[in-house]
Amino acid sequence: MSVLDLFRLDDRVALVTGGNRGIGRAIAEGLAEAGASVALTSRDGDRAAKAAREMADHTGARCLGLALDVRDQAGVDSAVARAREELGGIHILVNNAGINIRQDILEVSDDNWETVLDTNLAGAMRCARAVAPYLKEQRWGRIINIGSMLSVVAIAARTAYASSKHGILGLTRAMALDLAPHNVTVNALCPGVFKTEINRPILNDPDYLKEFLKRVPLGKMGDPADLKGAAVFLASEASSYMTGSALHVDGGWTTQ
Ligand SMILES: NC(=O)c1ccc[n+]([C@@H]2O[C@H](COP(=O)([O-])OP(=O)(O)OC[C@H]3O[C@@H](n4cnc5c(N)ncnc54)[C@H](OP(=O)(O)O)[C@@H]3O)[C@@H](O)[C@H]2O)c1
Repeated sequence: MSVLDLFRLDDRVALVTGGNRGIGRAIAEGLAEAGASVALTSRDGDRAAKAAREMADHTGARCLGLALDVRDQAGVDSAVARAREELGGIHILVNNAGINIRQDILEVSDDNWETVLDTNLAGAMRCARAVAPYLKEQRWGRIINIGSMLSVVAIAARTAYASSKHGILGLTRAMALDLAPHNVTVNALCPGVFKTEINRPILNDPDYLKEFLKRVPLGKMGDPADLKGAAVFLASEASSYMTGSALHVDGGWTTQ
């Protein structure tokens, strides 16, 4: 067996929350290119179905689009059930769904705090809780939580978002301990600044963007495809002795 075989995901089924666009879509595509069958989601079922069709055409993998709101446990449970039924199991969960409401501590409202924390942090917990019994039963599984550079540092006006992403590392470590006896690993993948919808306010403001890029040692924003390799590593046998850890793919942002 060559080391490259360790990265293959044949016969694995992955569920990528929010995999219809942006970072989740690139990760879903990477897993499909490595051989996995992939269920990807959107809160809008039609959008998920369209993305799944496009991904199946592009990769040749089995892809399923599902409607899912990570704020709704019953919806999470039924999406997991459908992925298992239609794709034949569940082995890999990527908790990618996330939002950002940019407010500082003087502005942040209870509603916005609750919305961001409930989506980014509780949403990841809900999906993991729904999938974990199956991973435990088969004594193999991977949970990948999408953190952020703001899991370990902060920038101004990110009160709720940075708190939620710092929480992702705590959740990752706690779940890693709970699931290690069952041969299930839990790790965080922490992107820096990437070209996606969530960063529209930065992309639309050339001066702000220029200031932002000064803080990236590699001098550019990430392309979602830059995360494919790290995601396949964390989803595969290649990372079998790694759990409770975080992999930073941020152009060097968190080095300073
Ligand atoms: N872009 C960056 O620079 C960056 C950096 C660090 C971390 N991240 C993280 O990467 C992840 C993906 O973000 P992105 O950059 O790809 O942004 P994006 O293009 O805005 O994608 C966000 C995804 O989350 C889904 N989503 C939002 N709320 C949801 C909910 N309540 N239930 C289910 N799905 C929901 C969206 O699906 P629908 O709207 O279709 O429902 C969409 O697919 C997020 O966790 C984000 O915090 C991004």
